[in-house]
Amino acid sequence: MNNKIRIGIAGIGNMGSAHLANILDGKIKNGVLGAVCDVDKEKLEKVKNRLPEDTALFDDTDEMIASGRIDAILIATPHYFHPTIAKKAFEAGLHVFCEKPAGVYTKNVREMNEAAKKSGKVFQVNFVLRTLGAHIKIKELIDSGELGEIKRFTWILTDWYRTQSYYNSGGWRATWAGEGGGTLLNQNPHQLDLMQWFFGMPERVRGFCYFGKNRDIEVEDEATAYFEYKNGAVGVYMTSVSEYPGTNRLEIAGDRGKLVYENGKITFFRTAVGEKEFNRTTKTIAGPIPMWECDVKYKTITVGDGQARMVDNWVETILGNETLVGPGEEGINSLAISNAIYLSQWNDSWVRFPFDEDEFLEKLNEKIRTSVYVKQEVAKTEGSFEDTFQS
Ligand SMILES: NC(=O)c1ccc[n+]([C@@H]2O[C@H](COP(=O)([O-])OP(=O)(O)OC[C@H]3O[C@@H](n4cnc5c(N)ncnc54)[C@H](O)[C@@H]3O)[C@@H](O)[C@H]2O)c1
Repeated sequence: MNNKIRIGIAGIGNMGSAHLANILDGKIKNGVLGAVCDVDKEKLEKVKNRLPEDTALFDDTDEMIASGRIDAILIATPHYFHPTIAKKAFEAGLHVFCEKPAGVYTKNVREMNEAAKKSGKVFQVNFVLRTLGAHIKIKELIDSGELGEIKRFTWILTDWYRTQSYYNSGGWRATWAGEGGGTLLNQNPHQLDLMQWFFGMPERVRGFCYFGKNRDIEVEDEATAYFEYKNGAVGVYMTSVSEYPGTNRLEIAGDRGKLVYENGKITFFRTAVGEKEFNRTTKTIAGPIPMWECDVKYKTITVGDGQARMVDNWVETILGNETLVGPGEEGINSLAISNAIYLSQWNDSWVRFPFDEDEFLEKLNEKIRTSVYVKQEVAKTEGSFEDTFQS
């Protein structure tokens, strides 16, 4: 028991409960439950009977952080609280596992990253899709040069269908003040992370967001973004919650051919020579370039197993046995991409990276001030707008 890492879970809603079950089921080899915290006392009451007797219960994360009962904190609260709680945890010398997205705006995520660096503690963001075999294989094909220099990608991600009933279930979701965005911040952070994992950060983006287009919400339910990269590559990313049946299709064009990932299958159309080389030497006017169609095999793992794997990997890294799958400081990249897509829409112009974080926050605050969630929450806490949403 001595070498086991005592984990405190902050937020035991959907995701916190899933992490709790993984810990209690022994899926985290060297992790044990130290404490559970939720601001909603009813949530604590609900899980109480399932917890080992010595588990400490808190309704305030500051108290859990200061309690001495945990070595590491797993943050599964709504996104706005991620950097706030993480910064305090790092200052108290705790290791941090943070749910995605890293936060809502890059300015305070940058501060969280600085606190993490200063603390020297182990910091993971839950980019669970990085554990899936197909994504690992695609990254290998890009990084090894098999695909050649990347020219273009197109990613259609419309298979996270959500109904009006989902949005009507209320709470913090799909509001500027409670969530800080719509589908780009809730369903898409995983794919935006994979995008920067595969292709690096773009130079600039032109984003188009549709706020409350097919669902009665104040944030976006549909978005399309066009990216440009330093080497001249371009990318298009399209997402929507209201198409049925949806699509998850990633097509990558490289100098050595084309990769298509759809319906769980990776197909690599590999040209016998690079396209640039072919173009330099051929006398034909339209190809063809000899090529093979390859069905690329990869190891299958479920997202559920990936969730346990991410926490286990964090604990094993704390113990010095592994390296992180989702290093915390990388969480800012996918968030910068979604922040930039909003900024591009709001300004009706291109946004170049790095963008003006103060301008983004200023514009986000304008949205927050008129958000339906503000009326609900600020009134409830009797706190100021800044105390509630910007600390
Ligand atoms: N990695 C994934 O695949 C995945 C999947 C779902 C959700 N998530 C992320 O997990 C986070 C939580 O989402 P969810 O669906 O579980 O939400 P949820 O609303 O079901 O749960 C959030 C819980 O946090 C509690 N809470 C709110 N503020 C708190 C605070 N300051 N301190 C302590 N507890 C607090 C709430 O009472 C609630 O019980 C989100 O950031 C979401 O993006 C990640």
